[in-house]
Amino acid sequence: MSTPPVDTRAIERAAEVLRSGGIVALPTETVYGLAADADNEDAVRKLFAAKGRPADHPVIVHVGGTNELDAWAKEVSDDARALSRAFWPGPLTLVLRRAARARDVITGGQETVGLRAPAHPWARAVLEAFGGALAAPSANSFGRVSPTTAQHVIDDLGIKPHGKVDLVLDGGACPVGIESTIVDVSGTEPTLLRPGAITREQLQRALGREVTDAGANAPRTSGRLEKHYAPHMPLSVLPADKLTAKLAKPCNQRLAVLAPLTVLENCRANVALAIAAPERADDYARLLYSSLHRLDISGADQLIVAAPPTGPQWDAINDRLRRAQVSGVNG
Ligand code: TXA
Ligand code: MG
Repeated sequence: MSTPPVDTRAIERAAEVLRSGGIVALPTETVYGLAADADNEDAVRKLFAAKGRPADHPVIVHVGGTNELDAWAKEVSDDARALSRAFWPGPLTLVLRRAARARDVITGGQETVGLRAPAHPWARAVLEAFGGALAAPSANSFGRVSPTTAQHVIDDLGIKPHGKVDLVLDGGACPVGIESTIVDVSGTEPTLLRPGAITREQLQRALGREVTDAGANAPRTSGRLEKHYAPHMPLSVLPADKLTAKLAKPCNQRLAVLAPLTVLENCRANVALAIAAPERADDYARLLYSSLHRLDISGADQLIVAAPPTGPQWDAINDRLRRAQVSGVNG
């Protein structure tokens, strides 16, 4: 898996579309984002319409780096600066008190703004050619699994005139594969709003202090809603021994399974698709959403995933799988 060289003509075209208020799907290191000019309210509204996302959900502003913190946020704390210095550009979103530039359409009317400097060379090239900041949620319909390839975006949202996006940039498969870690540094205590590739341990080491989970009064974020990241077909997560036992017996339902090779051996069940789960957490995360997409379109009646290991490297993966376990969700 590698990132193709940046196509400068495609980047120029993307910058033009963004300047004229259009929306562009682009690769980031985490997942594909659906980008619009963060200073253009109409363009940001188009993002929400394309995703079918409620207007009161805040969207992350993507910037070039730490020198843009103060353009979008005020009262930026030492913790916030330390984290941006340590992890930007990279898969970390900081939630800060908003400056006036972050309008209601971006923040969903909240007094905070989410900022991230992406590391992906294509995303950085677009930011540079465009010359501004980009509002960009993940490029999927609201509530669906995030896209990690250009084809996922085309299959879900589609390109105009028949689809919803002005331009899709194909910069290959996303190397991280799950959405950024989100840390709220708008108050006195840093809190973890969404686990991601940058672990709590890494955050704590950079800060020299504890990073706790967001409590009940955390800002509302769609990533924290329970019915989220869901495939179309019902999905369940089973402990490896239970799944091994289930697969050993013939069954009427057609199954699609993501599990370690050891669990897939001696399978006698009716399996439409079996995907071998990677052993390493980074490989597992990179392939998670494309595996869920493949299971989802396999024609199976039931999707089953073997519960991955636990531990810091696996927190974000277990978080996404827990949220994907919602049956019969539509839209
Ligand atoms: O990796 C990522 O973060 C990807 C790529 C494209 O950058 N983006 C992404 O965006 O996952 P989205 O919109 O699908 O998820 C961003 C999450 C949402 O749950 C949103 O509610 C939350 O970040 N968020 C954004 N601004 C916020 C704020 N001011 N306070 C709390 N949560 C916020
Ligand atoms: Mg999303």
